[in-house]
Amino acid sequence: MRFVPSSLVRGGRFLAALAGLLLLSGCDFNFWRMDGHQSTMTAEGPVARSQLDLFYVTCWVTLVIFILVGGVLAYTMWRFRARTEADERAAPPPQSHGNPLVEIGLIGASVLALVIIAVPTLTAIWYTHDVPEAEKKNAYEVTATGYQWWFKFEYPAEQAAVDAAGAKTPLVTGNELVIPAGRPIRINVRTVDVIHSFWVPKLGGKIDMIPNRANFFWLQADKPGYFWGQCAEYCGDSHAVMRFRVIALDEKDFAAWKEKQLALARSVAAPAAPGAAAPVAALRAFKTNEVGVSAAFDRNPLEAWRARQVVEKDENPALIAQGRELFAAKTCNACHSVRGHGAMGVQGPDLTHFGARTTVGAGLIENNPEQLRRWLRDPESVKPGNKMAKAYRDNKISLSDAEQVALTAYLLSLK
Ligand code: CUA
Repeated sequence: MRFVPSSLVRGGRFLAALAGLLLLSGCDFNFWRMDGHQSTMTAEGPVARSQLDLFYVTCWVTLVIFILVGGVLAYTMWRFRARTEADERAAPPPQSHGNPLVEIGLIGASVLALVIIAVPTLTAIWYTHDVPEAEKKNAYEVTATGYQWWFKFEYPAEQAAVDAAGAKTPLVTGNELVIPAGRPIRINVRTVDVIHSFWVPKLGGKIDMIPNRANFFWLQADKPGYFWGQCAEYCGDSHAVMRFRVIALDEKDFAAWKEKQLALARSVAAPAAPGAAAPVAALRAFKTNEVGVSAAFDRNPLEAWRARQVVEKDENPALIAQGRELFAAKTCNACHSVRGHGAMGVQGPDLTHFGARTTVGAGLIENNPEQLRRWLRDPESVKPGNKMAKAYRDNKISLSDAEQVALTAYLLSLK
């Protein structure tokens, strides 16, 4: 669905880039390509494209108005300026009520400008509201729920194993929404506490998650990709870092991912005779707000995501067994679920396949041994105000260096 010829789109992008350059010239962002992680200027799906086209229509109409009004103002200021001292002392020219033709013309032009904006606006509202009728049969449904400060994603059509006896529950993931590319995704939007807003800049949004209100909308990724999402409604301490990711896969990869997710958590057999625990070095100190994402991950996040799906090369069964015990001993299981490992908490993200995710702390830092340990050691320093840090304080939980390493090994083993 395109209202705008491509030359206007290119021109609009140039203007927007210029404005961005003036406003934000200090930031690390490529203005000319306009393709930062959370840029709405590179649409990668039909919903985002219709929203971007609407932006260009409004941008061009207001630019024409700006040039006309600014031009007339500049011309009159120049043409009728006082040139001599006699001009400055002269009486004002004869006053009139105005020119009816000009006034009617201006009213007509304003109405025309509004109509030019209103037609594509209404079309886009209609189009982005729900999956188009012809596509409905092909749509895939998920439910996104906002929590302070993370996102839960449910797949109502997928029944995941809960225990070895064969009990089932709808599949739940946290902070990373995996979807099939090229298919419309209908998203039920919910919240358990305050108002949040669901937004994936390159795919579409925003839509508010409102208490006691069943909102929904849809989006679609043109092709496989890795997309940044963000809560877009102020919701408390960690609003700015309430993020998530959307990973779009082709049908085959999506089916493979789904099959793994539906299974119980991976169990690693503990060695019969665990050797003496090696001494563990303290984790280095981190600066406040230190970026927790590697350059390789930033360059090719989809590859990084694929790499996370496979078992860690240097996995240590003794450490993993120790971590699994700690997960219960430190009461992590009171807030987090690990299906098949006896952990049933629902206040925090489901961790059944946590090791296969690319991020920790609601899309904030990369899920690798160093960053995960940084998070486990002191979640408050990574994401101020978060509920896990509060649980640490309330229940006087702290982790020694050895415990941090063991829990890290366990969580990363959950593929
Ligand atoms: Cu959730 Cu802002």
